[in-house]
Amino acid sequence: MNIHNTNIPLNPKNIILIGFMGAGKTTIGKLLAQKLERDFLDVDHEIERQHGMPVTEIFKTMGEPAFRKLEKEYVVQLCQHSNGKVVSLGGGSFMQDEIREACLNSGIVYHLDLTWESWEKRCASLVDTRPILQSRSMEEIEELFYTRRKIYADNHHQINVDTLTPEQIVEVMIQQIQAN
Ligand code: S3P
Repeated sequence: MNIHNTNIPLNPKNIILIGFMGAGKTTIGKLLAQKLERDFLDVDHEIERQHGMPVTEIFKTMGEPAFRKLEKEYVVQLCQHSNGKVVSLGGGSFMQDEIREACLNSGIVYHLDLTWESWEKRCASLVDTRPILQSRSMEEIEELFYTRRKIYADNHHQINVDTLTPEQIVEVMIQQIQAN
């Protein structure tokens, strides 16, 4: 077989999912990876595994700046070895310049966008496991939501996830990715 005739890219880009907490990055990432027959990697889970404790505990014992440092080191390194994984980033990761640049330069960055109104309906189930939400009032969270949304707008693709099912979202994502 002539290797030049194959359609398999030798060094496929990672597909990197970004978006606010609760947008569905992990659920949709797993489904997308399954449909594309790629590996799935959740950055928070990897950091938890490496440090033997949940993110909430890392925030408590080491503090947020230490978590952000771990996050930066992990993601920047991951981007240096792009190999076609579907990657879910924590919602705050993309705020770091180095992470944003590394992801945009090496991968296909996909923003799972949702409206504030839709997020408000999801927020009750998130608070226990998201230290960022625990120390803030609803007004402060809303401000954070809109500040971050402007940064998430720096992406290759985005989709609004307010009303679509994970199956529908993944179907649209695959069409968009394959069209490029
Ligand atoms: C965070 C989001 C979380 C996790 C950490 C901080 C954030 O990930 O990384 O609690 O700053 O938005 P998810 O977006 O997967 O909830």
